[in-house]
Amino acid sequence: MIGTALTTAIELLRRSEVVAVPTETVYGLAGNALCPKAIASIFEIKNRPRFDPLIVHASSVERLSKYANAFPEAARRLADQFMPGPLTLLLDKAAIIPDLVTAGSPRVALRVPNHPLTLSLLQQLDFPLAAPSANPFGYISPTTAQHVADQLGSQIPYILDGGPCQVGVESTIVGFEDGQAVVYRKGGVPVEALTALVGPVQVREHSTSSPNAPGMLKSHYAPSARVVIGNIKELLTKYEGQRVGVIRFRETVDKLPAEHQLILSPGGNFAEAARRLFAGMRQLDRLQLDVILAELLPEEGLGRAVNDRLRRAAA
Ligand code: TXA
Ligand code: MG
Repeated sequence: MIGTALTTAIELLRRSEVVAVPTETVYGLAGNALCPKAIASIFEIKNRPRFDPLIVHASSVERLSKYANAFPEAARRLADQFMPGPLTLLLDKAAIIPDLVTAGSPRVALRVPNHPLTLSLLQQLDFPLAAPSANPFGYISPTTAQHVADQLGSQIPYILDGGPCQVGVESTIVGFEDGQAVVYRKGGVPVEALTALVGPVQVREHSTSSPNAPGMLKSHYAPSARVVIGNIKELLTKYEGQRVGVIRFRETVDKLPAEHQLILSPGGNFAEAARRLFAGMRQLDRLQLDVILAELLPEEGLGRAVNDRLRRAAA
């Protein structure tokens, strides 16, 4: 069921059930992060391999601090600036966090989501919420309550509806190696904004399947239609005669029906492009296309996060 009743969500979560919740990035599939039974349900509903760990969400940095053994100075600075917000910090895990949450890793991923409904929910609970994106493993992440219902509606008792997600791509995941910040997943906080605060950061490109390379499974966010990245005009010639969709940054193409075209931001705005990406991909995916042709955005700001999702959709 889809609804806006916090009390229903709270009651279910207290009983170790799983509830979908809105965040500013994407919808999450949430359960009590301190309860192995709730965590096990999350993995099962998502059909997610147990080696892929979950992010732990709380209502404030102060509450998050209880789940990390140490909060280094650079992490503190990032937290002060970007929490609540689309930033996830990888820190040494406190013993209270079950190993199932971190897939046995000594580090835990921590985040304060910036959504009024979910912040209020978290404030009223006396435990944190573990929440992966609320999609079946490997598919496009949900940015509306209806997206969640379309795929997982029959498996979860409640979907808390907080409207469409305002950022639209997942959080940026940042950890520290030898005191230097490392970005493991590009997301809602642009790399440039991190650099401005803590100096140069390393950016890890994705590996194939290592649990040590967080959020980095190479193939992900994938629609059922094949995605091919390149120069749209050349690709259109190459795939002539097939049922084709396109994803472009600003401009439409001639000779393709409008509904086959996802134009991310006619005005060239990266934030708008990120916000519209996943919903647009889902729409294209309903058209039973043979192939989706996509062009990359400029590699800057949120354009990097959008490109990362497109590349992985094509992998
Ligand atoms: O924006 C977001 O981060 C959303 C919303 C719901 O908060 N959540 C999200 O969760 O994207 P998920 O599970 O779809 O992606 C989280 C990624 C995973 O790929 C996982 O590998 C990585 O974070 N991760 C989580 N905990 C980790 C840990 N302890 N060590 C390394 N990687 C971790
Ligand atoms: Mg996900």
